[in-house]
Amino acid sequence: MPVDVTGKFITIEGGEGAGKSTNIDFIIKFLEKNGIKVLQTREPGGTPLAEKIRDILLDKSETDIHSDTELLLMFAARAQHLHEVILPAIQKGIWVVCDRFTDATYAYQGGGRGIDLHRIAELESWVQGELRPDLTLIFDLPIEVGLERAGQRSAPDRFELENIEFFKRVRDVYLLRASQNPDKYAVINAEPELTQVQKELTEVLNQIVMNS
Ligand code: TMP
Repeated sequence: MPVDVTGKFITIEGGEGAGKSTNIDFIIKFLEKNGIKVLQTREPGGTPLAEKIRDILLDKSETDIHSDTELLLMFAARAQHLHEVILPAIQKGIWVVCDRFTDATYAYQGGGRGIDLHRIAELESWVQGELRPDLTLIFDLPIEVGLERAGQRSAPDRFELENIEFFKRVRDVYLLRASQNPDKYAVINAEPELTQVQKELTEVLNQIVMNS
């Protein structure tokens, strides 16, 4: 039987203030301790060109970006990132841990901006072909708690300026997608203190390492 030498593709999602960065550091250390070669990256971004697109997307002085333009820029950045970084890594057996991916497009451009989810699905197939994450971890918490936590950090970007209803729609789409495909998603309660969150996270990570 052929041995599966491709690396796993793990994506990390969550609303504002969900503690993604801290938990990504924890995930990377956990995988490395288990002898796994890992590449950490992010979207939008992850290559010099895609990081330039990110700068445009997050720039709050860009007040007139049409939602279709925003969607296409997300996928333009993704195409570059996929071909330049993600695919070469997983083909070498490296695990890729990506801070946001296409679930964020469904949540923010689909849920938040109201773009038809079928249109997003078409772009997903075009840009990604068959590639989908092996596992998506969603750090979830009530919107009000997340915004309160996020507000204590740096100046808001173009997305962080959105209103609470926008973020509720974002969260609803994340949770809906997780409920529709429970084998590929783990929703982690990001509300309790960090040690509790990381206990739950460790259980999920143990599963994926054991099954690899
Ligand atoms: P970050 O703050 O987690 O780095 O993500 C940057 C912002 O980009 C965040 O507000 C979510 C948004 N985003 C989208 O709207 N659609 C996408 O496809 C991605 C990857 C991110």
